[in-house]
Amino acid sequence: MTFPVIGVVGGGQLARMMAPAATALGFELRVLAEGEDVSAVSAVPNAPVGDYKDLAALMEFSKGLDVMTFDHEHVPGDHLYALIEAGVNVQPGPDALVNAQDKLVMREAIDRLELPNPEWAAVDDVAGLVSFGDRIGWPVVLKTPRGGYDGKGVRIVGSAEEAAETADWFEAMSPLLAEAKVEFSRELSALVARTPDGASRAWPVVHTIQVDGVCDEVIAPAQNISLEVAAAAEEAALRIANELGVTGVMAVEMFETPGSGAGFLINELAMRPHNTGHWTQDGSVTSQFEQHLRAVLNLPLGATDVLGQVAVMKNFLGGDNQDLFSAFPAALAAEPAAKVHCYGKSVRPGRKIGHVNLVGASAGDVDSLRQRATVVANIIRDGRLPAAASGTTEETP
Ligand SMILES: Nc1ncnc2c1ncn2[C@@H]1O[C@H](COP(=O)(O)OP(=O)(O)OP(=O)(O)O)[C@@H](O)[C@H]1O
Ligand SMILES: [Mg+2]
Repeated sequence: MTFPVIGVVGGGQLARMMAPAATALGFELRVLAEGEDVSAVSAVPNAPVGDYKDLAALMEFSKGLDVMTFDHEHVPGDHLYALIEAGVNVQPGPDALVNAQDKLVMREAIDRLELPNPEWAAVDDVAGLVSFGDRIGWPVVLKTPRGGYDGKGVRIVGSAEEAAETADWFEAMSPLLAEAKVEFSRELSALVARTPDGASRAWPVVHTIQVDGVCDEVIAPAQNISLEVAAAAEEAALRIANELGVTGVMAVEMFETPGSGAGFLINELAMRPHNTGHWTQDGSVTSQFEQHLRAVLNLPLGATDVLGQVAVMKNFLGGDNQDLFSAFPAALAAEPAAKVHCYGKSVRPGRKIGHVNLVGASAGDVDSLRQRATVVANIIRDGRLPAAASGTTEETP
């Protein structure tokens, strides 16, 4: 066999969704899984269980791989340097990845590139946080630089008095990142891919809607965005990828700030396929999962055009319904055009367990697409038709 073998560290839904792309291209995908029951295991035949914090486990997993890549950004940088030393092809490499692992490193890099950052500071303790807030104005946002996800590790601090309540965070980690609380009109994401040789491509900038710190909905492309802001946001993402030596897919999360500065501020970077790029599975010529595989293998990148005029992605989180499949007949009947993606995860409240994509032929469809995708996602989450819809069906003569 001369087809490449790609090893993904981490067996979450992102690794799982790389599998169909690998299968289509004839590549072999392997996954280093956190346990027997993680999302990717049922989709990838070769998925040994091992601890990504254990160098020996990573070394063992690296045998026979053409490239090692990631489902998450938590593999310690020192392990990655050791793997590279041992001849493993790690993409993205640790010097790039650290900007997605550590929000303080990332803020420094964005400043260095003279791209738009919110006001920020590294703060060592409550007193440091208070002096930052007093200087730039309350409320401020306090973040743990490492280990956060889905809004965990992010809190809003309203006043100097409230800052006293953050002492426990400084005991666990210091310094922390303090940021101005940005007054944004919406959140955006600029998704790009770059190869080790430096070829890159961008998808159109999308609008992302977060609920309780978790990505809930994505509208691609972002509707009614100013052409200048869209172009500048895309250019910023490509520049970050180039200057930081990013390989594979990268998402740049942004805040849209019309009428001030560049019209956007950078929130954070993710160096892997990202929730804000799931729409590409059904809404773009090349999905982010296929593009990630192409990119880390240094292959020519695929076209990133949108299929149709607009695509919508709606996540569903764990709710009351434990038996997701029981809701499928109703969900699929409600919307034959919906593409349902389920992660094979057990249902726990608030856990990301799947998403729905819908693609529209006209930009005017966006409201209807959002509503229809939400109906499907809610039926699966709740295990039943919404009260109004089922009422209508029953009452219709
Ligand atoms: N400086 C800020 N001003 C206003 N809102 C913010 C700020 N920073 C973060 N937020 C809000 O909190 C959300 C989560 O923050 P952030 O993306 O930094 O955390 P995370 O937990 O690493 O994210 P993810 O969910 O992408 O893993 C953002 O999407 C945004 O809605
Ligand atoms: Mg984020």
